[in-house]
Formats: sequence, structure tokens, C-alpha cells
Amino acid sequence: MKALVLAGGSGTRLRPFSYSMPKQLIPIVNTPVLEYVLRNILDLGVTEIGVVVGDRAHEIRQALGDGSRFGACRLTYLQQDAPLGLAHTVTIARDFLGDDDFVMYLGDNMLPEGITGIAEEFAAHRPAAHVVVHKVPDPRAFGVAELGPGGEVLGLVEKPEQPRSDLALIGVYFFTAAIHEAVRAIEPSSRGELEITDAIQWLVASGADVRAGQYEGYWKDTGDVEDVLECNRHILESLRPAMDGEVDEASVLTGPVVVEAGAHIVRSRIEGPVVIGAGTVVADSHIGPHTSIGRDCAVTGSRLEYSIALDGASVTGVQGLRSSVIGRSARVGTVGQSTDRYRLVVGDHTRVEVAA
Ligand code: G1P
Repeated sequence: MKALVLAGGSGTRLRPFSYSMPKQLIPIVNTPVLEYVLRNILDLGVTEIGVVVGDRAHEIRQALGDGSRFGACRLTYLQQDAPLGLAHTVTIARDFLGDDDFVMYLGDNMLPEGITGIAEEFAAHRPAAHVVVHKVPDPRAFGVAELGPGGEVLGLVEKPEQPRSDLALIGVYFFTAAIHEAVRAIEPSSRGELEITDAIQWLVASGADVRAGQYEGYWKDTGDVEDVLECNRHILESLRPAMDGEVDEASVLTGPVVVEAGAHIVRSRIEGPVVIGAGTVVADSHIGPHTSIGRDCAVTGSRLEYSIALDGASVTGVQGLRSSVIGRSARVGTVGQSTDRYRLVVGDHTRVEVAA
């Protein structure tokens, strides 16, 4: 078994962050989503991993390297020159995959409980395709599957206006080599992409065995800022405290808190679950719960909860920050003593919300 990890795509819903970093490297509890993906794949004992990259190939390569830091695995980078769809990535990976079975894993999907159970289901029957579905309140934003009583797939539609079930396809698929004929047979969808959903539907229509397993665990497609914050909250819920930095006597820590090496907490209250990244200084502030602060940040005289600050960010003198994501080396501060004046230097597709 091999793995195909998809780390291309444009990430428009994650702007402005996706202007300067691939969406798969957005940190959840200070770890890029893509690392969680790789670890789940390595847990299957799969070591041959193809990583499909787009125009941000350089950053993905920089973050993952040859994979050796994750253990016994070999990463092969496969270039996709334009975001032509998930099924298109299978055609690019044809030589890498050979005729082996493989798991295809979307690099922005978080399944913190792992995928070993799903892999066992696939191995037990070895259908042409084994998809994973999850009940969602509004399936219109996803591929949707209709299932028969024994878990067989009766039909699949990509982002239907009138879904025939509430079962969304989540971003993990197991395939035999039968998928290669299917991805060659389909036409681009209305969004101009070769959809993996259409390729699997082609298999269904041609009479191949296609099955689905319902995944009951936590799943999040970290597609937009709300999803990223929610997922960060969820992962923080199982945070194991660790103290490698320094906390002065005037500070109070409650709940699970990680203070990484070289971080300093001064005259502050940290209400876990919270992670404070290496080299970060927090002074005269109240942070948490459900907040992660990256490396080399500075938080001074501020109140920050249910938020994420990426590496190098600074927050000075701002109370009441909530549900906020602050980008790398972004600066958030105050302007004079006035309470009714704002100064904004915000980039494209940035969002600013202030009290009414
Ligand atoms: C893709 C798939 C869709 C699936 C979703 C899961 O959608 O096309 O079928 O439900 O991932 O995250 P996209 O993220 O490309 O809109």
C-alpha cells in the first residue's frame, strides 16, 4: 500500500493566510495540519508517500523535507502545475503508484483519531474504492454519498444542491488500481476540475464494488478560519501540559498549559488549554482558554481567548480579542489613548471586526 497526500490547491477560503503559506501548513496547536496527516499515514505502516504539490511546492518541501524526521518513510514530491482537481492528481501520480493499492488523503483534513480502523475495513473487502463518510448538518459543500443497507455506495454527487443524504465524503479514500481507468474516463466538472467524486461514481456506474465506512470520530476540513479555530479548540482539549520555558512568581497558570523552551510568562494569567510557543514572551496579559501562540511572539498587556497567533506575531495593549487568527509577524496594537479611533493596515481579503 502506498499513500498519496494532496498538498496543492489555492486555498481561497483561507485567505489572507493562503496568500503567504500553503493552506496545509496552517498550524493547529502549533503543528502544521500536514504533519497530522503524515502521522496518520505512518500509523498504517505505509512508508511510500507521494506528496502532490502545486505552486507552493517550495514551502511544503521545506516543511516536510525527505520525511526522515517522521520515521521510516520516503516522500516523493509530485508536481501539479494547475489545480485541475483531485482526480487529476491520480493521473499525475500514475507512475509513482504503479498498480499498488493506495490511500489518498487530502492534506487539509484533520482526523485526530487516526485512520487505522478505516484501513482495516478496506483490507477486509478490498473493494475498488472505499470512501469514508461523516454525517454533517449541511452536506451541500461536500461530495455526498448515498448508501445501501450493507454500506455499498449507490451513488455519489459532488456538492449537490439537493443532497440525497447527509453523508459527506471526507478527505480519505482507499483505492485499488481500478481507479486509474476511472480518472481517465471522466470529464471536468462545472468548476473545471476532474473530481474524484465523479471518478468513484464512474466506478459505481460501471458495476465495480464501491463501499463506504461511516466515520464517527472527530473530523474537520480546515477550509476556513472558523474551521481552523474549531479544530484548534478540539485538539487543545487533549493537550498534555509541559513546562520548558519560564514562568515568574506573579503569574498564574490553570488547566493544561504548554510553555515551550525559551518562552517567558511574566505577570500573566494563562487559562489552559493553551500552548505558548518557543521564544515567545507573554507579559501583563490574560491568555486562554483554547488559544495557541506560535514561536517568537510577543503578547503584552492584552486579553486573548479562543484564538491563534502564528509565529512572530505581536499583540500589544488590546483587550477582548476572541476568535482571532493573527498571521505570521502581524502586529496588533493600539492607537493613542482614544477609544473611538482605529488605525488599520490590512492586506487583501483580511477581516477586521471591532465593537459596534
Ligand atoms: C473536496 C472533495 C469533496 C469532499 C471534500 C472533503 O472538496 O471534492 O468531495 O467532500 O474535499 O474535505 P473541496 O475541498 O475540493 O471543495
